[in-house]
Amino acid sequence: MSQTTSAIEAITHRKPLELAIILPTLNERDNIAPLLDRIETALGPDGWEVLVVDDNSKDGTADEVRRLSLSDPRVRAIQRIGRRGLASAAIEGFCATAAPFCAVMDADHQHDPNLLVPMLACVRSGDAEVAVASRFAEGASMAEWNRPDREKLSSVANRLARKLTGVELSDPMSGYFLLRTQTARALVPNLSAIGFKILLDLLATSDTPLKVKDFPMNFSARRSGESKLDRAIAFDFLAGLYDKSFGRLIPTRFALFATVGVLGVFVHMAVLFVVMRIFGVAFAWGQATAAFAAMSFNFWLNNWLTYRDKRLAKAGELLRGWISFIIACSIGAFANVAVATTLHDMGMHTIPAALVGIAIGSVWNYALSSRFVWGR
Ligand code: GDD
Ligand code: MN
Repeated sequence: MSQTTSAIEAITHRKPLELAIILPTLNERDNIAPLLDRIETALGPDGWEVLVVDDNSKDGTADEVRRLSLSDPRVRAIQRIGRRGLASAAIEGFCATAAPFCAVMDADHQHDPNLLVPMLACVRSGDAEVAVASRFAEGASMAEWNRPDREKLSSVANRLARKLTGVELSDPMSGYFLLRTQTARALVPNLSAIGFKILLDLLATSDTPLKVKDFPMNFSARRSGESKLDRAIAFDFLAGLYDKSFGRLIPTRFALFATVGVLGVFVHMAVLFVVMRIFGVAFAWGQATAAFAAMSFNFWLNNWLTYRDKRLAKAGELLRGWISFIIACSIGAFANVAVATTLHDMGMHTIPAALVGIAIGSVWNYALSSRFVWGR
């Protein structure tokens, strides 16, 4: 190690690479160059690299990062096409760096790069395995935040997080933390990688509780652009709990999708009842209206919940997604009826035949919509 280190120093007069700063980005073009300056001020000219993991931002973030790389090899763009999500972007970073330490940080200047110095020193010295920048630790502060509300939420969240991870944490949803890259990479195969809770995911996945140290941070206002996350953090915990308990048996996303599907049945029945009883519509038309309403409801709820990390938000995207979802469901419904009828004709009882049809239809819906509706 020391031999290689001195060889590198002799050739380049540079410190060897020690820390990778992973910046997941979605439309953060104007924030990158100023953030690089701040990182350089905090860490000095060398020994670090910045990996921007961009999910094909429309504002040209990846192009901007590539432009910066031309004159500054310390920064690299990893552009992902057809994939979305903060957690999976962080994982991409863990796997793409040779640096022995890595930090995940927001690209919008809400996280202060100066904290990287004590966080790195702490993990390097073995004082802790994960250094977490916390908005709720003693001495932390926040700009533009609804504080009482957040604190109430966070105390509930903390209790759940402690159950999930066996670790005492003041800010389990923090998006700013640092650990040995080897530690992160070893956990990657077992992470659930859904949503935003990458830190929680890492801590909950580790067999032995990781030793964590909190660093109070001053959570600043976003510099440019807008937030992509909503505040339904409690939901990420529930999904996390489920994932760790039953996720191997039935994947979390499919379980959510199926739950939404069951709710859709109630919507279908309610609409059918209303249009037939109150508006006196004939059964066939009633059934068609109810199916359309239920599919639209399922699209909305799946977009809001099941695929909240890949949520379609712009009017055009929503319209395209809604239409594709209805097409996907119609194919699923066709598969459902075809399979159930065949089994029924082969002598299977009505109820099991219908259930098999429903199961196959749901898997079809799920497969098609995860690929074609929320796939990019
Ligand atoms: N690659 C990628 N893909 N990056 C994403 C995605 C995505 O789907 N969604 C968000 N990001 C990037 C943003 O561009 C930003 O750099 C960072 O992830 C955080 O996103 P924000 O949109 O700024 O999140 P926030 O400020 O509302 O949320 C803060 O609080 C959360 C917990 O409540 C952040 O600190 C989060 O990291 C934290 O988990
Ligand atoms: Mn932010």
